[in-house]
Amino acid sequence: MITLGIESSCDETSVAVLSGRQKLLSNVISSSIKMHQPFGGVVPEIASRHCLEAIQPVYKQALETAGITESQIDLIAVTHAPGLIGSLLVGLSFAKALSYALAKPLVGVHHLEAHLEANFIENRRPRQPFIGLIISGGHTTLLHHDEAGYHLMGETVDDAIGEAYDKSANLLGLGYPGGPMIDRLAQQGKPGLIRFTRPKIKGTFDFSFSGIKTAVRYYLRDHGPLNDSDLKDFCASFQGAVVDWVVRKAYDACDAKQCKYLVTGGGVMANSLMRQSLERESKKRGVRAFIPPMKFTTDNAAMIARRGLEVFLNRGPDDLSLRAQPSLAVAIA
Ligand code: KG4
Ligand code: ZN
Repeated sequence: MITLGIESSCDETSVAVLSGRQKLLSNVISSSIKMHQPFGGVVPEIASRHCLEAIQPVYKQALETAGITESQIDLIAVTHAPGLIGSLLVGLSFAKALSYALAKPLVGVHHLEAHLEANFIENRRPRQPFIGLIISGGHTTLLHHDEAGYHLMGETVDDAIGEAYDKSANLLGLGYPGGPMIDRLAQQGKPGLIRFTRPKIKGTFDFSFSGIKTAVRYYLRDHGPLNDSDLKDFCASFQGAVVDWVVRKAYDACDAKQCKYLVTGGGVMANSLMRQSLERESKKRGVRAFIPPMKFTTDNAAMIARRGLEVFLNRGPDDLSLRAQPSLAVAIA
């Protein structure tokens, strides 16, 4: 079974070819991130225009790299939610046209579910229930997955963790996207320069990241501008705090549901300390942590193909009335 995956929910346009569940034949990604940098964040109009220009050449290259022809495609999987509406519509319209022209089934994929599924390209999917942790520029979400599907356990009540990184990096004058910059500086600094207060939130498994951004602002007002050495130590303190909040909560969720598996995904899973801390805590708590390979942390179509196959095998195809939805909860079934 050959699955074509198509992803265009934000600033990346990607097409992948997956054979069976685990043999990835190609995964071509074109990013417009450089075009957004002067604006300090993703500009939806620029993102969708780039998707429109990129989709056809990226598709051609994905088939070429995989060494297949269009007629060998058995299933077309496409991100239909959540994301920027203009970007989503490009991939979805392309997928529908292809499905109609080739007379091949179409399946809509939820982008966040796909971030978790990225782990099951190189690893077998656990049969037992698991906890899903999604940390990205738009989401900070804890899910419980059982036989019935995904159930929401907690999410951010304000900013996403990646947003906290990006906004704080902006205040520090580090440019966009800020996550990788803070991560790099943090690795050269010593934590402990500043102790950030853990947010107090009502829901046990909810998160909050807007407070730390305000704390960064006040620290800079009172102590800025920082010299190189203090900047590195500051980044190390910031990173130490947010990683600790997320890691604890993720494993507490595993304890609460008595799950032996933690499946993680999203752009912030590229963070060095997050990866190390999740790994270390995994051994302590006796939970197996699935940490996606670096190449699957950012948006890619390989994860869409993998998730699409799973959804198709479970509930069959979608029809051409499938809609693009900027916000949509994860599927319960
Ligand atoms: O999943 P993603 O590619 O896009 C969204 O769906 O949001 O995530 C992008 C986010 C950005 O906020 C970026 O700053 C963050 O992931 N990020 C990182 C790192 N690499 C990317 N955050 C912390 N440390 C990193 N190494
Ligand atoms: Zn994403």
